[in-house]
Amino acid sequence: MKLGFIGTGEISKAVIQGIISSKIKFSKIYISNRNNKISKQLSKLNKKISIIKDNQKIIDTCEWVFLAITPAVGKKIIKELKFKKKHTIISFISTIKMKELKKFIKVKATIVRAIPLPPISLKKGPIPIYPPNKKVKRFFNYLGTTVEIKNEALSLNFWTTSSMMAPFYEILYTLSQWLIKKGVKKESAQKYITSLFVALSEDSFNKYSDLKKLVKESQTPKGLNEQSVKELRKLGFYRDLNKTAESVLSRLKKAK
Ligand SMILES: NC(=O)c1ccc[n+]([C@@H]2O[C@H](COP(=O)([O-])OP(=O)(O)OC[C@H]3O[C@@H](n4cnc5c(N)ncnc54)[C@H](OP(=O)(O)O)[C@@H]3O)[C@@H](O)[C@H]2O)c1
Repeated sequence: MKLGFIGTGEISKAVIQGIISSKIKFSKIYISNRNNKISKQLSKLNKKISIIKDNQKIIDTCEWVFLAITPAVGKKIIKELKFKKKHTIISFISTIKMKELKKFIKVKATIVRAIPLPPISLKKGPIPIYPPNKKVKRFFNYLGTTVEIKNEALSLNFWTTSSMMAPFYEILYTLSQWLIKKGVKKESAQKYITSLFVALSEDSFNKYSDLKKLVKESQTPKGLNEQSVKELRKLGFYRDLNKTAESVLSRLKKAK
């Protein structure tokens, strides 16, 4: 199977890194030369990865095509590309809905929307896909955990929560900076904070069936965790998290 990527930015890089370290059987990966720096790096990683400058040529050469460009670029270029019925097209573009993708693509190809996140490079994390598709599910299960979603409106809720990646990293950055200001060396501060949150995340994954209980059990009565969570609640930290989620969701709903 030949895989083609239109747009070689951060998410393509992560997905391709995942693919080449996985058991996925592919004969070739063709990538566009934009971004030039990333595509050069990737082509050096594996001899089965090659750069093709012309987007249309990538499509003509591959059975599976991944759309990994920004929404603005997607709206401009997808309608100018010629697809065939045999193509499986996987769009990573978060704000272009299925109806519009179909309009741009014109032919009755298989179209699936997917939202992978950068940890896919480590073959970790959920990959929500819409609509359900057996082959695409199997493919992404080599790279993490595929979550099939039956209706697009519901899928937007999952897309919304995946926007909490940068806010999560901002928490790591803020706490590292706090330690640095207290005199801890940058390297030690960042290593400490990231390993703390890796451990907490892994532990929470083992206990995911009851998160409310996990919050409760993580607090000693009158202890430090109890103080932190109470103060953050009072400050509106979690209420604002919900507010932001609603605002991202409403943006996704408005997108065509
Ligand atoms: N990053 C994530 O975690 C993530 C997760 C899920 C979904 N997504 C979605 O995936 C898409 C890409 O995100 P990204 O973070 O990878 O963005 P990105 O790093 O900005 O990558 C977009 C790439 O598209 C290239 N490009 C621009 N015009 C092009 C054209 N005419 N033909 C081919 N390539 C072109 C850009 O190249 P130049 O640099 O040369 O302009 C750039 O390398 C977005 O729609 C985003 O919503 C991203």
